[in-house]
Amino acid sequence: MIASRVYDLGSGDHFLELPGFLPPFGTFLKLEGLNPAGSIKIKTARKMIASAEAQGLVSPDVELIESTSGNLGLALAVICAAKGYRITLVTDPNANARTLRHIRALGATVVVVDRRDRAGGYLQTRIDYIRARVATEPHLLWLNQYANPANPAAHRVHTMTEIVTGFGTPDWLFVGTGTCGTLMGCVQGVREQGLPTTVVAVDAVGSVTFGGAPARRWIPGIGASRAPELFADDGSFRKTAVQEVDTVRMCRRVARRYGLLLGGSSGSALAAVAAMRNEIPAGSRVLVISPDMGDGYLDTIYDDAWVAERLGPAALTQDRPTRVHDSVRV
Ligand SMILES: Cc1ncc(COP(=O)(O)O)c(C=O)c1O
Repeated sequence: MIASRVYDLGSGDHFLELPGFLPPFGTFLKLEGLNPAGSIKIKTARKMIASAEAQGLVSPDVELIESTSGNLGLALAVICAAKGYRITLVTDPNANARTLRHIRALGATVVVVDRRDRAGGYLQTRIDYIRARVATEPHLLWLNQYANPANPAAHRVHTMTEIVTGFGTPDWLFVGTGTCGTLMGCVQGVREQGLPTTVVAVDAVGSVTFGGAPARRWIPGIGASRAPELFADDGSFRKTAVQEVDTVRMCRRVARRYGLLLGGSSGSALAAVAAMRNEIPAGSRVLVISPDMGDGYLDTIYDDAWVAERLGPAALTQDRPTRVHDSVRV
């Protein structure tokens, strides 16, 4: 493929089997970390910017602003650099330090808010910061990935097409939830195409998205401390929430067993597969969306001291499988 813009370098067709992960069914990853900007968020960023352009909202006087846990910010920074747009990205201390350095190197402005919100996270603080700026600075355009219909549309159109074309119809599809753009896009795509796929939404324990009690969390990308506007539970998909200790244990187990360094939300989704293994019929093809790779998590999920300090020594234990009671079913 010869592309003329870095963000058009497609990579939607990488699927990896994890042989023997949980016999008697097959577990496969859709590796979105091989996309430009290193995550699934390039699709969301492309679609949101295209939608703003189509509405005539972007001009040389306009500066974009967005709240991000890191990956969307990086994807937006890539596109804005290539298009000559200015952008400010508002994030928090859970974001990968390397991702933030990468974003700054692309010329975007980064603001890190550090006051925890009432749910123990930072999302509301990030959004309050943006609202205050937008109210007084008319040149700012907030893309708002939490409510922007272009976010799920990116996955309904692109992610689901890539799955059906490159993998076929999965029997089960596990999707982590942040803004819920990926989830809702996949749910819509499955419904539109009349697929018999069971979609499982995977959240973090301590996230409020499925109505659970808020609690402090450490791993970025998955979970929300404020209900995402895009989330709409129509009863057509399953929901499960994973403890961060299981996420970390799964990431580290996959790294050593398969030589694959996954990001946190990929570990959460695989931990959810493990927790629900008794419900998945033999012979099923289970597809897990893997939103990013683990390089950005070397100082966190893959760092023994970081893990032991925040999640306790149990998270370092590799010799026991993820147990059903380690994960909370919602
Ligand atoms: C690593 C990672 N996993 C999962 C997600 C969740 O995706 P979505 O926002 O589409 O729910 C994100 C979103 O930022 C992410 O960065």
